Amino acid sequence: MSYVWLITGANRGIGFELTRQLLASSTVSNTVIAACRTPDKATDLHALKSKVGDRLHIVPLDVSSEISIRASVGAVDAVLAGRGIDYIYNNAGINPSDDSPFDLSYTEFLEVLQTNVAAPALIAQLYHTHLERGFRKVIVNMTSGLASIGLDCGPKCTSYSVSKTALNMLTYKQAKARPDFTAIVLDPGWVKTAMGGAGAILEPEESVSGIVKVVTALTPADSGKFFRYNGTQHPW
Ligand SMILES: NC(=O)c1ccc[n+]([C@@H]2O[C@H](COP(=O)([O-])OP(=O)(O)OC[C@H]3O[C@@H](n4cnc5c(N)ncnc54)[C@H](OP(=O)(O)O)[C@@H]3O)[C@@H](O)[C@H]2O)c1
Repeated sequence: MSYVWLITGANRGIGFELTRQLLASSTVSNTVIAACRTPDKATDLHALKSKVGDRLHIVPLDVSSEISIRASVGAVDAVLAGRGIDYIYNNAGINPSDDSPFDLSYTEFLEVLQTNVAAPALIAQLYHTHLERGFRKVIVNMTSGLASIGLDCGPKCTSYSVSKTALNMLTYKQAKARPDFTAIVLDPGWVKTAMGGAGAILEPEESVSGIVKVVTALTPADSGKFFRYNGTQHPW
């Protein structure tokens, strides 16, 4: 089988590791459309492309810009030549500060909401016909344990947590609106990336190998669920 993935924020961190592992698969022939905001500086992606060739396509996409998101469709269409997308993986995200509800920056809050929620919403809206032409029809929205009200994580990272909780609700709505799609939220765990920091628990390889197992095994019955990277589920 051969699948097409569209991954945002694919130039570093979890997004890059996901791209790397999908292209290293010996059992499935994956094609990855790796979206990133500055392809010219995506040295790891270009190094990977020199090894895998046409199975990796690097396209510009700044998810904080509506213009860039809309413009990406043309670049992706040029790559696909009529083919569908099997997996849309909304991975790009920001967590600029450990703010609290009474000192958050209004401007920064809006930036976080735009990048972490509004962008995945617009991407799904613009690419849903591509999913219709795909075999798997999966949307993965990268969330966080901090999105869970049930986990009772306290006041830290307010803007980020609110954005990811909103992303969870968006995903629930997507799952309900389109029973023919499989839309889930996935928490990668606490991962050693620029965002997770050096003190995190998981290496990107471990988180992503779990993510690949979970996501590739999804069935329509899983739509609307809140998964962790290891296949367990979080309370909402
Ligand atoms: N690491 C963790 O412990 C952890 C835990 C829970 C959830 N997550 C989630 O996992 C996802 C990936 O996180 P990570 O740990 O890999 O973070 P990271 O190392 O900071 O990487 C973030 C990625 O998002 C991209 N990005 C940010 N803003 C963007 C924009 N406006 N347009 C396009 N790309 C943009 C970055 O691209 P640039 O290089 O251009 O900045 C980078 O590729 C995020 O959604 C995050 O919330 C991470």
